[in-house]
Amino acid sequence: MHASGEKIAVLTCYDALFARILDAAGVDVLLVGDSLGMVLQGHAGTLPVSMDDMVYHTQCVARGNRSAWIIADMPFGSYQESAESTLRNAVRLMQAGAQMVKLEGGGWTAAMVRFLVDRDIPVCAHLGFTPQSVHALGGYRVQGRDEKSARLLRQHAGELAEAGAECLVLEMVPSAVARDLTKELTVPVIGIGAGLGCSGQVLVLHDMLGMAHGDLPRFVRNFLEGSADIGAAVRKYVAAVKSGQFPDDAVHGF
Ligand code: KIV
Repeated sequence: MHASGEKIAVLTCYDALFARILDAAGVDVLLVGDSLGMVLQGHAGTLPVSMDDMVYHTQCVARGNRSAWIIADMPFGSYQESAESTLRNAVRLMQAGAQMVKLEGGGWTAAMVRFLVDRDIPVCAHLGFTPQSVHALGGYRVQGRDEKSARLLRQHAGELAEAGAECLVLEMVPSAVARDLTKELTVPVIGIGAGLGCSGQVLVLHDMLGMAHGDLPRFVRNFLEGSADIGAAVRKYVAAVKSGQFPDDAVHGF
């Protein structure tokens, strides 16, 4: 899809019923995101999510899915310790039904990516605002706004792609930076709050259905509004991503 220029529509998914609905509505990738810590478990962030949580929800999603690609998040603490424990944790997610694992951050994570890829575990990297580093980053902030941090972002993305990451999620990054990075890399870049110039888009499912607890983030559109049901809302999202009607950089971009 990336090679042919077709935009990739991704949504988070945490259970079998939604997996069935999203898959039937044409979503290309189901991301079992550790955002489930906030969306399902009521935590303030993703840090409390465990490997057992991720395995359970990946199994549920895999049972409901027929044809979408499944990416499962490696939760906080599951890939920091050693290459061996990272591999053990990634294997658990693959055995639960994931086809690719995602881990956050640049720099040292490239070594973990290489270790997994060398052992035939496909990896998606995640740069920009990385929720597991919320405290180190000093809060929910757009990343790559100034020259220096945009350069570091590009460096990390290059290193991760070089290490074998086959996909990159880019979160809360200025649209122009994300667009240039997408052009530079050969792997698909999936944006969330990163503008229209990415190879695809991802949103948290409950956000795009208008089910968030507080205010919706700036980069979210409520697709349930004006839709007959959830399936129709998801089909509208897929069509908007594929046709380049979502996101609108003037409304959703940084
Ligand atoms: O956990 C998650 O839902 C994510 C997306 C926000 C990209 O990583």
